[in-house]
Amino acid sequence: MSISISDAQREFAPGVVFLNTASYGLAPRAGHEAMLASERDRAAGRLTTAMGDEAVARCRAAYAALIGVPPQRVAIGPQVAYFVGLVAASLPSGASVLVAEEDFTSVLFPFLARPDLTVRAVPLDKIAGAVDSAVDLVAVSAVQSADGRVAAMEDLIGAARAHGARIMLDATQAAGWLPLPADRVDLMVTGGYKWLLGPRGTAFLSGTEEALASLPAMAASWYSGADVWDSLYGPPLRLATNGRRLDLSPAWQSWLGHAPALELLQQVGVQAVHEHDLALANRFRAGLELPPGDSAIVSLPVPDGTAELLAEAGVVAAVRDGRLRCSFHLSNTAADVDRALELLAAPVAAAR
Ligand SMILES: Cc1ncc(COP(=O)(O)O)c(C=O)c1O
Repeated sequence: MSISISDAQREFAPGVVFLNTASYGLAPRAGHEAMLASERDRAAGRLTTAMGDEAVARCRAAYAALIGVPPQRVAIGPQVAYFVGLVAASLPSGASVLVAEEDFTSVLFPFLARPDLTVRAVPLDKIAGAVDSAVDLVAVSAVQSADGRVAAMEDLIGAARAHGARIMLDATQAAGWLPLPADRVDLMVTGGYKWLLGPRGTAFLSGTEEALASLPAMAASWYSGADVWDSLYGPPLRLATNGRRLDLSPAWQSWLGHAPALELLQQVGVQAVHEHDLALANRFRAGLELPPGDSAIVSLPVPDGTAELLAEAGVVAAVRDGRLRCSFHLSNTAADVDRALELLAAPVAAAR
C-alpha cells in the first residue's frame, strides 16, 4: 500500500516548526505509541522477547526495501560507530583509507583510532579525484552532517572501481530522503534516529556478500547466532552466515518504536520524500535568494543568537560549524518554510 505525503503528515504532531531532522527525526504517531506501549508492557510484565524479535524483523525488512537490498544483507546494531568500527577492524595493518576532512567523527575516528592504518583526509569535493591505486577503502558520508553537501557518489563509485578500492558510505543523513546506490557500494552504514524517524538506538549495516563476509564478528553474541534461541549457551561458535552474523542484540523499545516509522517511509516511498524535501529546501533557498540546491539540508551564515531567536518564536533549527542548519523532511510544509523565512529576514540581511 502506498500513501501520499499529506496522509503521512497526519502522523506527525510537533509542538514547534521543526527544521532539525539532521539532529533527530520526529516520531510519527504510530512509532511513538509503539515505543510507549512497549514501556507500559515492560512495567506490567507483559513485554516478551518475541515482540523484540518481530520488531527487528519488521525493521530489517522495511529498511532493506527502502534502500533496495535483500534483508539477508542487512545487520542491525545500536550506533553507527559500532559498524564503522567493524569496517576499520577488518583492514590489515598498513591499509590506506581515504576520508573527507569535514566528515562526522563516527565515520573518521574508528579509522584514526588505529595508528597502523594510513588515513588520508581530503576536502569532500576532491575525494573522487583523490582515489588512486594506493587506496584500499573510501569511507565517506553520502550527505554531510554539518552542511548537507551531497557526495558525488557516481564519481566515487567510478573512481573506486577503476582503482580497486572499496567504498563505505555513511547514509545517516541521507537514507530516508535521498535515493542511494546501496547495491553498488561495498558497505553502507545508517543511523536510524534522523531521516529514518526512529528513536535513538537503531542502526543498520548493509553490503555485498563479499564485503560483509570480510568483517570480523568482533561482538558476536547469541543474537548473531545461526538460530538465535539455540545460541544462548556454550560452545561451539555457531553464527548466522548472512548479515545477521554482525547483529548486536536489540534495545527492544527502540526497535519496537522504529518499525512503524520505517514502514511509513516505505509506504510513502523515497522518491516522493525526495521530491517533497527538496521542494521545501529549495523554497527556503529561493526565499533567501540562493540558487536551487540538491540537499534537504540548508546551511547559512547568520549572526550569533539567530537559532535562539528562532527557538523563541517556536522554530527549531541547529547551529553547526558556526552556521544555521535547517533540515526539511516529511512532516514539514510550505508554511513551515515561510515562517522560518519571515523570522530570518532581518538576521540574514544583517549577516550580509
Ligand atoms: C553522518 C553521521 N553519521 C553518524 C552519526 C551518528 O553516529 P553514532 O550513531 O555513532 O552516534 C551522525 C550524527 O549526527 C551523522 O551525522
